[in-house]
Amino acid sequence: MSAEPPAGGEGVSSQERPGPLLEATGLTKHFKVGGNLARKTLHAVDDVDLVINPREIVALVGESGSGKSTVARLLARVYMPTRGEIRYRGQSLASMRSRRQSMRYRSDVPMVFQDPFSSLNPAYPVSHGINRGLILHRPELSRPQRRAEAIRVVETVGLRPAAHILDRFPYELSGGQRQRIGFAQALAYRPTVILADEPVSMLDVSIRIGLLNVMADLREQEDVSFLYITHDIASARYVSDRLLVMYAGHIVESGPTEEVLAAPKHPYTQLLLSAVPDPRAGIADGPIDKGEPPRVVDPLPGCRFRRRCPLAIDACSTVSPALRELSPGHSAACHVAR
Ligand SMILES: Nc1ncnc2c1ncn2[C@@H]1O[C@H](COP(=O)(O)OP(=O)(O)OP(=O)(O)O)[C@@H](O)[C@H]1O
Ligand SMILES: [Mg+2]
Repeated sequence: MSAEPPAGGEGVSSQERPGPLLEATGLTKHFKVGGNLARKTLHAVDDVDLVINPREIVALVGESGSGKSTVARLLARVYMPTRGEIRYRGQSLASMRSRRQSMRYRSDVPMVFQDPFSSLNPAYPVSHGINRGLILHRPELSRPQRRAEAIRVVETVGLRPAAHILDRFPYELSGGQRQRIGFAQALAYRPTVILADEPVSMLDVSIRIGLLNVMADLREQEDVSFLYITHDIASARYVSDRLLVMYAGHIVESGPTEEVLAAPKHPYTQLLLSAVPDPRAGIADGPIDKGEPPRVVDPLPGCRFRRRCPLAIDACSTVSPALRELSPGHSAACHVAR
């Protein structure tokens, strides 16, 4: 991607800066797998801490199966955590028990699903889902206002003529068009944080940049924050302020996007960057083993990356490394990284 990154938000001054919008501590999700006789525990997400501040785009990257969608689903309350806490504007999600609070949270923090069919009902035209969401989450709108709002959000994601798109059924749209409808649905709620799980993976480059610019504009003009999940480092670089790198259920590196890409600390981040066509970051010399990321079933102690790591030392087999701050705001979970 050759376009220049959009200007980052100048942010709010430290005096008026409120606390984090969304915050997770010790977030953990285990799944039981293997049937009754050979029951095992799959560690999809283990001990993840993350913060999304107002007007911030945080990218979450990592290979397939590393736990990215599970993190988003936990934050969206699609899954209940095995352990750990999520707070929205300081309030624990576990304490939001009433239907009203849950609905409010879902409209403030909607999720754009990786598979756009998950959020579109095949039996109804596209307008149905958006309209239903508006009735539920913005009951103050009249019918004509709902129609106008549906047209606005569909146009925002670059689908025109919007009225025509709204009347079509999901199966009449391409994968990329469905993906943008999923995004439009989230916009209709006037959210504060959008959990966007690979929202542009099916789009070609020009439309992809258009949607990334929509994200940047929403941040600038409406103070919307994003958790932006992607495999595509170039798009993470284009749009995000901070980067979180996930490996086998753990966050292994986090920091300002430009800094992480220019000087990745964790050997896994270096591996990940060596696999993209724009390896502008300082990558270790020579090839690193590009084996598959593990499915983390009943894990032993120690670093989960050690079998693929060219720098592993004895401690990596016994002690799971915690995230350590190596320069201001830039942390890595590695015994060796400096
Ligand atoms: N409902 C579930 N039941 C059992 N295992 C699950 C479930 N959801 C996810 N997993 C497992 O948890 C791990 C993490 O999956 P997840 O979908 O979060 O990965 P991901 O990083 O989003 O991958 P991708 O990039 O392919 O979308 C995988 O091993 C997956 O098989
Ligand atoms: Mg996923």
